[in-house]
Amino acid sequence: AERLEFIRKLPKAELHVHIEGTLEPELIFRLAQRNAVTLPYPSIQALRDAYQFTDLQSFLDLYYAGAAVLITQADFYDMTMAYLARIAQEGVVHTEIMFDPQTHTERGVPIATVFAGIARALREGQQTWGITSCLIMSFLRHLSEQAAFDTLEQALPLREEYSDVWLGIGLDSGEQGNPPEKFERVYARCRQLGFYLVAHAGEEGPAAYVSNALDRLNVIRIDHGVRSEEDPVLLQTLAARKIPLTVCPLSNLKLKVVNDMREHNLKRLLDQGLCVTINSDDPAYFGGYLLDNYVAVAEALGLSDEELVTLANNSMQARFHVFLT
Ligand code: HPA
Ligand code: ZN
Repeated sequence: AERLEFIRKLPKAELHVHIEGTLEPELIFRLAQRNAVTLPYPSIQALRDAYQFTDLQSFLDLYYAGAAVLITQADFYDMTMAYLARIAQEGVVHTEIMFDPQTHTERGVPIATVFAGIARALREGQQTWGITSCLIMSFLRHLSEQAAFDTLEQALPLREEYSDVWLGIGLDSGEQGNPPEKFERVYARCRQLGFYLVAHAGEEGPAAYVSNALDRLNVIRIDHGVRSEEDPVLLQTLAARKIPLTVCPLSNLKLKVVNDMREHNLKRLLDQGLCVTINSDDPAYFGGYLLDNYVAVAEALGLSDEELVTLANNSMQARFHVFLT
């Protein structure tokens, strides 16, 4: 408990969280009722009990199903406010939030509804709790590059209205078989447009996906990146270029990227000079928000107070606006 209070007091940034992954079962049921959506689970507990994953895809199936209750601007607002209210209690001072517009536009929800609900919450959250924030619009990598271009075209007319929050572009969903280079041209376009670029790489996919995210997509940060350890030359590059990794310990455990938290390579990566940060990924699904992730690795890996301070400082240094690229 003393450790918890120590970590809570450190100013921290959360740089890898999917807003749809903050949707708690209670809220899923409340929004289903509000929108007259029928859920394939009889109760909140039955839904929670279904959160037993074997890999990334087994999680994504439930994550996309859960997001189907999001219909109106108020739904996106309520989801985002619930997340901000939670992290405000954890000493999080800044958050860079991913969202997946294609999950919603494919169901007929206008992209403007998604932006409006989330952005209203972020602006209000800054007033209420002093938490600064921005958005990373993420493309679903299991869909085509053309679908990503179409999504970008739909979103660009909204850019000015949301210029205070929409700063980044990301890439998520099923990694294996959907390498970074599939999105090389759309990333080049986003780069021209002046967005900060990130991508999931090296979660389930090989170290080569991390190298290609750097070399072909020109990302400034890698989401996950834990499998970079398999390529010593890549590790040197990541350290030399100070490319942050947004590592998500509880996610890695729940999706069986690691079998035991004591085997997590976070400390080894830190010891090799990488800019490692701790994040929650999809906290409603993986059993913990940001503070829980810090505590879980601190205990399992025996991290010192000094290492915890380094991790929190890394998160502050890896925020978009600190980059001068
Ligand atoms: N990996 C890939 N896609 C995702 C994740 C993740 O951890 N969470 C939500 N979408
Ligand atoms: Zn993620």
